[in-house]
Amino acid sequence: MAAFGTVFMPQMALAKYEDQQWGDSEIVSSDSISLHPGAHVLHYSSTCFEGLKAFRHEDGSVHIFRMDANIKRMAQSAELLSLPAFKPELLEQMVKDIVAKFADEVPAAPGSMYIRPTFIGTEPAIGKAAAPTSSALLYVLLSPVGDYFAVGAKPLRLLLEENGMRCAPHMGMVKSGGNYASALGPISQARTEFDADQVLFCPGGDVQETGAANFILIDGDELITKALDSSFLHGVTRNSILTLARDLGLKVSERELTVDELLERAAKPGCEAALSGTAAVLTPVGTLIHNGKEHTVGNGEAGETTLKLRQALNDIQWGKAQDQHSWLTSI
Ligand SMILES: Cc1ncc(COP(=O)(O)O)c(C=O)c1O
Repeated sequence: MAAFGTVFMPQMALAKYEDQQWGDSEIVSSDSISLHPGAHVLHYSSTCFEGLKAFRHEDGSVHIFRMDANIKRMAQSAELLSLPAFKPELLEQMVKDIVAKFADEVPAAPGSMYIRPTFIGTEPAIGKAAAPTSSALLYVLLSPVGDYFAVGAKPLRLLLEENGMRCAPHMGMVKSGGNYASALGPISQARTEFDADQVLFCPGGDVQETGAANFILIDGDELITKALDSSFLHGVTRNSILTLARDLGLKVSERELTVDELLERAAKPGCEAALSGTAAVLTPVGTLIHNGKEHTVGNGEAGETTLKLRQALNDIQWGKAQDQHSWLTSI
């Protein structure tokens, strides 16, 4: 199977913002945009994006998972980046149109169709470092995917980083390219030096998130994760897993978690840790690397509760369990 996100459907949905108004969305070739080299996005990173998935059920029908939540987050990112405002209905229609167009290409379980709405500032102006773009493009790409982590449910190794940050503290809740660029150096270094899969950013000892997923600790019947603030991305999967955990009778604690508490709890035999995200789903974490020392989480294997929660989420996505929270949009 091709690497996650490297195969694209040949067409995408696209809408333009010009002269202070949005044009109608259209379906165009996926390689059809041309940008001026002075485009605002290329110099001042006026860009944000989203990631969500459509799933094929056993009866052949296709359903998009939590589209409203992702569109809301995209609108919030756009606002915080001073990109033009768009009506949620515009993006909703674009997502639905392009998924409907390629409904036959949505892979069956365990695959899915990854949906990538993208928003960029296009004004050719290299003197606008401190001013918003006056024109923009919104487009929705599709990419059929399998399992993000090719190793499947193999527990991950995370390097705990207490000194650096993933991004500027007020930008964490924005899903924007610059945040990923800023985390790339530490992640590459952690791979080379510690054979780590990811970095868990814990500035000043505060356990936040990794480069591309939220962090969840499960100790007995308690699930612990950082409470929402502006410093990290408010994952849709995080919210879904917390909801399912409550449904299963777990105690959900959204609060500060320090590195000291994390390492103390991780040492207990039954403790579990996992990363949550659209791509990661809920991927077990087996090892934490801190100050050069390796700490096994629980018994180092995929935790029972982690697998149960992952299954509960997948069952809703693939139509094997009732969609109690109305998370699916049929195409
Ligand atoms: C930095 C970061 N945190 C968390 C997440 C999880 O968000 P979601 O569950 O909405 O995919 C992502 C994206 O997957 C991410 O890039």
